[in-house]
Amino acid sequence: MPEHSANPARGLETVRTIADLRQRIAAWRAAGETIGLVPTMGALHAGHLALVEAARARCGRVAATIFVNPAQFAPEEDFTSYPRDEREDAAKLAALGTNLLFAPPVEEVYPQGFATTVRVAGISDGLCGDHRPGHFEGVATVVAKLLNQSLPDRAFFGEKDYQQLQVIRRLAADLDIPVEIVGVPTVREADGLALSSRNAYLSAAERRIAPALHQALARLAATLEAGPDDIAGILADGRTALDRAGFTSIEYLELRDAETLAPVAGLDRPARLLAAAWLGPTRLIDNLPVTLPAPS
Ligand code: PAJ
Repeated sequence: MPEHSANPARGLETVRTIADLRQRIAAWRAAGETIGLVPTMGALHAGHLALVEAARARCGRVAATIFVNPAQFAPEEDFTSYPRDEREDAAKLAALGTNLLFAPPVEEVYPQGFATTVRVAGISDGLCGDHRPGHFEGVATVVAKLLNQSLPDRAFFGEKDYQQLQVIRRLAADLDIPVEIVGVPTVREADGLALSSRNAYLSAAERRIAPALHQALARLAATLEAGPDDIAGILADGRTALDRAGFTSIEYLELRDAETLAPVAGLDRPARLLAAAWLGPTRLIDNLPVTLPAPS
């Protein structure tokens, strides 16, 4: 494969080395452009494309990255079977006016001798962190690298992966990376199911059950906002509802501080309702804001 290749039809250039990425971005920088970065693992759907659109709206030049990051998959997870279709992804990115695609091979990101791990304590623990050991270290390490490799003005991440978004906000602040982290609202199917590459794993019967996760969260958020006196009881009812809907196992259903993700006892600060549950072999996650209306 050539080191970098242009897609002459749509003008989206793909680069595969950090040197080429830096060179393209330096040229934009020299021209006074504002630069947006959209990191992904590919298999792009409308959720990813909303990040590109947000970046296009706020930045003169947009680079997307596609890298299925081995460091964030546990050995039993779907790293090898994770869907990969760079041609189709490149066409989708080009159609939205993305200016550059960075799609490096694994050895460009993790060369021989690579030895550093970025760990964001606290926010990475609990919720998904409890059920996917090492996952957020893998995410934090690769995102720190991507940000340092490209040094964008803004980087765009989905609220769909809310804990990931907060981990990334913390790491950028803690490591003094001069970037604005922008969170983009979750894109959903018409029935409320959050778009995810892994939805493709759902059987027809599971697909019919799947929107119950968002529906339960929406109902719980409304109940909490109406009267947050018995948070534990409301969450227990939510678990029962998911169970009844047909979820095979519920990893967590929690109300957390929207920024720190620490457990909350009340709603005196913005909070976030977060859940992960399994439908057969497929793990689904979702979350919603819970904010008490300001007293009038
Ligand atoms: P990936 O799962 O490919 O997701 C890339 C980005 O798209 C993430 O910021 C994710 O939150 C966002 N996204 C996914 N589904 C979305 C939806 N339905 N609505 C809005 N945004 C959505 O997340 C990763 O890759 C990786 O962990 C990565 C950050 C690239 C590091 O490897």
